[in-house]
Amino acid sequence: ELGQFRHYMQKEIFEQPQALGNTLEMITGGGGAASQHFGARAPEVFDGVRRVLVLACGTSYHAGLVARYWIEAIARLPVTVEIASEYRYRESVPDRDTLVVVISQSGETADTLAALKHAKSLGMERTLAICNVPESAIVRETALRFITRAGPEIGVASTKAFTTQLAAFALLTLALAKINGRLTEADEERHLAALRHLPVAVQKVLELEPEIEKWAQRFAGKEHALFLGRGSHWPIAMEGALKLKEISYIHAEAYAAGELKHGPLALVDKDMPVIAVSPADELLEKLKSNLQEVRARGGELYVFADAGSEIPESEGVHILHMPEHYGMLSPVLHVIPLQLLSYHAALVKGTDVDKPRNLAKSVTVE
Ligand code: F6R
Repeated sequence: ELGQFRHYMQKEIFEQPQALGNTLEMITGGGGAASQHFGARAPEVFDGVRRVLVLACGTSYHAGLVARYWIEAIARLPVTVEIASEYRYRESVPDRDTLVVVISQSGETADTLAALKHAKSLGMERTLAICNVPESAIVRETALRFITRAGPEIGVASTKAFTTQLAAFALLTLALAKINGRLTEADEERHLAALRHLPVAVQKVLELEPEIEKWAQRFAGKEHALFLGRGSHWPIAMEGALKLKEISYIHAEAYAAGELKHGPLALVDKDMPVIAVSPADELLEKLKSNLQEVRARGGELYVFADAGSEIPESEGVHILHMPEHYGMLSPVLHVIPLQLLSYHAALVKGTDVDKPRNLAKSVTVE
């Protein structure tokens, strides 16, 4: 069943073009950003929505964090993203005009399900599940649903589920923007074209595997790593750190690059590798100066840079060139080398990649 692959995690990383193509099927034949993609009742549920609350755990929570940048910038709705286990026990202020989005690969995560029920008990009826399992408990509890079509995910570390969640959020962003009158036809077409091309773009990034394998050799001996990103790539840095921790047992933390000098810079020395998610976007110049701060303290830099970012390779600065900048959807591309990095670091270390110690695929206990 594994075919040419050594582990499910590797197979699932390489299935991402297909998983994305399947998830985005409704737009590939020329379909638009219709709210109906979220269920027949979507136009009525979305109408009058004034804010969005995303509830999730782990990797799914990171997908929500990326979506926050998209929905606020494009649909112009305020977004809160909260860890389900925090939300459910907190005295929050409910608001009926909020669209509650629960996001879960399995649809069975106990805290996410409980957070959803909590939101409903507070009178919030506008609910949407983004989920990979159509018959799951979470999907049965929401007014609307979007089923990602990643296919079964066997590896404990979520990979293809995450990128398909991002694809679902991209469609949600466009649907909400459209309903809010924030999306011109030209912009809609531009975003849809980028989504339709996404499987091909992901395929190109997967071809970087041999280079990433070399980096992983150097990483496997490290005990700690810092991940940096800005904007919608900060949650990608968080996801990269989570993957490295859970699969290779290397302690990793992610920071918004601008936070470095407010504390974590004290950790940086020659033994602390720093991984930078470095798309060629409008924050690149800011990120570059953060990277200089790291270099000045002797930290070794591993930079995932889009072609055209003009960050020169030098002593202690390793660059991996990604294909050109992919606009709003760039986080989908940038997470892929981080998945591959943690996978290959784990291989070098000899950990049980598909079943890391102490973890379960679906967390049905609180
Ligand atoms: C990390 C991972 C977990 C899950 C989390 C939520 O690789 O897989 O962090 O993302 O347990 O699971 P779902 O998405 O099934 O609710």
